[in-house]
Amino acid sequence: MTILVLNGPNLNLLGQRQPEIYGAETLADVEASCRRMGGELGIEVRCAQSNHEGQLVDWIQEARGTARGIVINAGAYTHTSVAILDALNAFDGKVIELHISNVHRREGFRHHSYLSARADGVIAGFGTHGYVLSIRHMAFLLAP
Ligand code: DQA
Repeated sequence: MTILVLNGPNLNLLGQRQPEIYGAETLADVEASCRRMGGELGIEVRCAQSNHEGQLVDWIQEARGTARGIVINAGAYTHTSVAILDALNAFDGKVIELHISNVHRREGFRHHSYLSARADGVIAGFGTHGYVLSIRHMAFLLAP
């Protein structure tokens, strides 16, 4: 069983970018933790990050038929992208939307997500620990 962990714009700067909000772990640390958790649960975790909306759409399309679930932190595209919502709507597996920060405690423009209407669950405000929690929950959702 394969799941995809997708990260959107600026998440390549994790650990350097506003660490008071996003923490000290790098994207490589986060991806390694996800793969480790997947290994413990018998799930193959594939990770990818892009700053480009169309690339994220392409990866979501490719996940059709190759992955059972998608964990997505779409970064700022969460609040703007109908294209990513449409791509997720064309994916028939489980979807978890993830935010490192508690977006609801932040600026008003971060309170609306185009992706939440499609997500099976939303994780926000658990810091980078949210990623391993999302892998655990994905395993629960996909258990036979
Ligand atoms: C984020 C929250 C978004 O509002 C922001 O644009 C990000 C990261 C988070 O992980 O908390 O880039 O998705």
